[in-house]
Amino acid sequence: MSETITIALSKGRILQEALPLLARAGIVPEEDPAASRKLVFATSEPGVGLVVIRAADVPTFVENGAADLGIAGKDVLLEYGGQGLYEPLDLGIARCRLMVAGPAQARETWRHLRIATKYVTTTRRYYAARGEQVEIVKLYGSMELAPLVGLADRIVDLVDTGNTLRANGLQPLETVAEISSRLIVNKAAMKMKHQRVKGLIERLAAAVGCY
Ligand code: ATP
Ligand code: PRP
Repeated sequence: MSETITIALSKGRILQEALPLLARAGIVPEEDPAASRKLVFATSEPGVGLVVIRAADVPTFVENGAADLGIAGKDVLLEYGGQGLYEPLDLGIARCRLMVAGPAQARETWRHLRIATKYVTTTRRYYAARGEQVEIVKLYGSMELAPLVGLADRIVDLVDTGNTLRANGLQPLETVAEISSRLIVNKAAMKMKHQRVKGLIERLAAAVGCY
């Protein structure tokens, strides 16, 4: 088979949870990506390769055809937007919630609420839909610190066990979105490599069903 397929995924949590799923679909990387500095990996499936990139970059690679398929968190996809992607499968891995959180004792304030987050677009959309005006402070991580040091009144961040919130004296307040990782597909690849892509989606769907 001459047609090649590239699947993009990210190191860390998604790689950890996606590798067993890919293995159930018969796709096993030639070496362990978690233990390698390489970014491109051949797999046990002829013509199918993996690229391992930053989580937030997966939709960009797939939308632009640098990868045919990708595995990305719904949080990343909501923030990315974009029309150039199909999202055919909820893989059910890396489950958590995107939540508004804040101190147990919220201070009264006369000004607009200040929200610290790396999910600026999603947060803006969430509050706009509720007709609330807020000020957004863009951060790249450690959002939980922001209310403790007076940088923000609340945060919008991922919550799983709630341990990180609790450890920093914060509590979950509202759910913005339920999150899990999705399979995404480049629209042109879905047309041009239809049989191959469809076959992989079906095998991954079966692998998800096994859980
Ligand atoms: P990078 O390391 O590239 O900056 P990141 O820190 O967002 O990205 P991860 O922490 O591995 O990377 O998160 C990747 C994805 O896993 C997130 O986009 C989200 O969908 C999911 N995720 C993140 N944190 C959790 C969590 N605590 N529980 C479950 N899933 C999570
Ligand atoms: C994520 C997220 C929260 C934490 C929530 O961070 O940003 O801080 O998980 O999980 P919990 O509710 O189970 O505590 P992660 O551990 O991935 O570290 P990161 O900030 O480096 O992404």
